[in-house]
Amino acid sequence: MACRRTCAQRRFWLAPFTHLLRTLTLLMVGTATSVWANETIVIKFSHVVAVDTPKGRAAAHFAARAAELTKGQVKVEVYPNSQLYKDKEEMEALQLGSVQMLAPSLSKFSPLGVRAFEVFDLPFIFNGYRELHMVTEGTIGKRLLGKLEAKGIVGLAYWDNGFKVMSANRPIHNLADYKQLRMRIQSSKVLDAQMRALGAVPQVLAFSETRQALQSGVVDGTENPPSNLYTQHMHDVQKHVSLTNHGYLGYALVVNKRFWDGLPADIRQALNQAVADATRVANDSAFKDNQMALEKVRASKRTQVYQPSAPELAQLRSQLLPVHQQMASRIGTETIEDIYRVTGFRLPNTTLSTNHP
Ligand code: LMR
Repeated sequence: MACRRTCAQRRFWLAPFTHLLRTLTLLMVGTATSVWANETIVIKFSHVVAVDTPKGRAAAHFAARAAELTKGQVKVEVYPNSQLYKDKEEMEALQLGSVQMLAPSLSKFSPLGVRAFEVFDLPFIFNGYRELHMVTEGTIGKRLLGKLEAKGIVGLAYWDNGFKVMSANRPIHNLADYKQLRMRIQSSKVLDAQMRALGAVPQVLAFSETRQALQSGVVDGTENPPSNLYTQHMHDVQKHVSLTNHGYLGYALVVNKRFWDGLPADIRQALNQAVADATRVANDSAFKDNQMALEKVRASKRTQVYQPSAPELAQLRSQLLPVHQQMASRIGTETIEDIYRVTGFRLPNTTLSTNHP
């Protein structure tokens, strides 16, 4: 009884302050909304590839849909082809807020300290897009994107590119052909281990520097899906391509977390829709773009395109699969095993934990 009276008295005395607090909160929210309401919201979206690639097309589609769905309030400025930043710089720029959006390849997140993304680099882990999508569109994919939040980054979606081919200035048919080849790789320890397993010498280079490095002989070869090889004119300086399809290259569409969380809810909702639409464009065009690029590389007659035989592919596969065990503790055994479970992948005659009890 006494409590009821004192509580009522407290409420009576606190009422004006509570009211003031509520008004201030409303004013602050109102001010934030009206600041955005009067201003165009600019999203700088930097990426490193050409516009006529799966990522280039998806980024352009995202920009168009964002403008449409927000009735022009959001303006997405897309900077392709490393115009604004190269690989490493663009990550720093995102964290600093100098750009708001990127779609780096999944191989480029480990220098941030998110090593689990290197799981996508494991050789032969995905047998085609269907298996890959079981991961990227399921709980594992979501969990991996969630790891970026601690780095001030929100992962919005996965965008496909495709399966990689090997290229060099000498034929690469057998395992012995890789010996001592200096191969440009992305900044991933799994890719480093993969090239070493082949007896090659890996060298990390920014994407924007790769063609020049191939031309000048700083490196002898590289790996990439055909769409990147063709649109960067790498085939002009690589005499041989081998259709190994030994690994996947795709992207995470990411946004600066502070920027994203600060957007009005209706704008964020519209942008989420634009992301979904752009993701469809990336994933629908990935296979076609890579097929088309390969045809153009063949038609150029500058590069010999080799289809390895089944025994050659089997040899390559058995040479590269030990990289899964070698990299398990770095990536996280659980993450790799979760993917195995979802896709049904099996390491022949062994398990991951054989070397990692
Ligand atoms: C590479 O560096 O080879 C790729 O990540 C480029 C890209 O973004 O597709």
